[in-house]
Amino acid sequence: MTRKLSVQACDREGPVEFRRSQGVGAAEAPAGGSDAPVFEKLLQKIMSRDARVAVMGLGYVGLPLVRLFAAKGFPVMGFDLDQAKVDQLNRGRSYIKSVPSAAIAKHVAEKQLMVTSDVRHLATADAIFICVPTPLTGDGKPDVSSIRQTAKAISNSLRRGQLIVLESTSYPGTTREIMKPELERKGLRCGTDFFLAFSPEREDPGNKDFTMEQIPKIVGGIDDASRQAAATLYKEAVNKVVEVSSCEAAEAAKLLENIYRCVNIALVNELKMCFDRMGIDVWEVIGAASTKPFGFQAFYPGPGLGGHCIPIDPFYLSWKAREFQFNTRFIDLAGELNIQMPFYVIAKLEEALRVRGKKLAGARILMLGLAYKKDIDDPRESPAFRLLELLEQKGASVVYNDPNIPKFPTMRHYQHLKVKAVPLTPTVLEGVDAALVVTDHGDFDYEMIAKHAPLIVDTRNACGGLERWREKIVRA
Ligand SMILES: NC(=O)c1ccc[n+]([C@@H]2O[C@H](COP(=O)([O-])OP(=O)(O)OC[C@H]3O[C@@H](n4cnc5c(N)ncnc54)[C@H](O)[C@@H]3O)[C@@H](O)[C@H]2O)c1
Repeated sequence: MTRKLSVQACDREGPVEFRRSQGVGAAEAPAGGSDAPVFEKLLQKIMSRDARVAVMGLGYVGLPLVRLFAAKGFPVMGFDLDQAKVDQLNRGRSYIKSVPSAAIAKHVAEKQLMVTSDVRHLATADAIFICVPTPLTGDGKPDVSSIRQTAKAISNSLRRGQLIVLESTSYPGTTREIMKPELERKGLRCGTDFFLAFSPEREDPGNKDFTMEQIPKIVGGIDDASRQAAATLYKEAVNKVVEVSSCEAAEAAKLLENIYRCVNIALVNELKMCFDRMGIDVWEVIGAASTKPFGFQAFYPGPGLGGHCIPIDPFYLSWKAREFQFNTRFIDLAGELNIQMPFYVIAKLEEALRVRGKKLAGARILMLGLAYKKDIDDPRESPAFRLLELLEQKGASVVYNDPNIPKFPTMRHYQHLKVKAVPLTPTVLEGVDAALVVTDHGDFDYEMIAKHAPLIVDTRNACGGLERWREKIVRA
């Protein structure tokens, strides 16, 4: 059954009032008021799906979470600083490929979902999820300013009986050291007045094999009541909840998952360069090793790391570890190796052109794929931008094609780059000196690319299955 939010217009100046059309009555009294057993009441609201769920940060993580809880019948409020996103969602339009506009439009039309940038609405939420960005600063340190900002916004209107769950990836200790003191600033106590937990998001963008419901949720609380409240809420939405002893264990579990990927990707990237020198095909080797039914998991080399998680999250741990006089050598080494990959790709491209009597300076290069991985539309931290910068520095003239990113995005660290998108046609391919495959999107017609491009430098083995035109394909 769907619970509706009856919302007085999103008045950004005037008083804010929410009324639910049904369910458990008005907001709890503030601290110092009622002695009601806030914990039991919260659990009741959750289990009857009357709890009002708020999600702060409506990006790749927050928006699917909004959709999940709305689909389970909870009344949901979405918050984002970006007014353009708020307006778009309120018009029933999604900007994330994995979240269909139809789902958003339906929930908005049924008044089950309300989206706003006005944080005063937070006071009416029973559970607040935080899904804001956690990038690195310019000098490679954790930038938790968005977490601090949301903690402050919540604490300004915090009331008894609220559950706050941090989902943003961060170093162990973030929930306890940053969130808790800010939320307790006005006198309410965690574990009795309000509840605070950490639960990492484990989404794998573009992965069609697992829905959000199928991915187990790890939950750690500041205390037992907080963990239990958060676990109870997630159990209404996903098939399996894994409760751990603390927020720190949950924060560290997320980092372990991503460090595991980062280190293994660095390993295959190193082996790619090593095997290339030995005349061995690394993709063939990985394919053969993958036939072992146990004890081996395949990772694949590429042009460098990309995405919001793998290139960033490991350094949250290495930064925190330094506080404990501990040097995380595997993480640092993996970082060093992965950062080198775009240089390796450029060297291979330069060599392939040289063999064909051409120079990279002045060469026309078509970059295929900007997204950081296959079949997604997310360009964040994509190695494509480092490659574009290096190509520009070397004097090459570059255009690109990415079916999922038709307009060249402005990137925080690469604002100077402006690259033209071109259609992927035989004429365009015949007019360049080389096609550089950076992302192995399934929509690319590799047969057609190989037929018409004079040279293909393939960083993903996307052309591995082609039998013809092998002499034009160079793996990098
Ligand atoms: N994208 C992924 O695949 C993925 C997977 C697992 C974990 N994570 C983690 O989840 C977190 C969010 O990542 P994302 O990919 O959704 O980021 P995103 O950039 O796509 O979205 C973040 C959203 O938060 C908004 N925002 C920023 N500050 C805010 C504030 N103070 N109040 C309200 N809204 C605010 C931004 O406008 C943006 O819309 C990060 O910690 C990330 O590491 C991401």
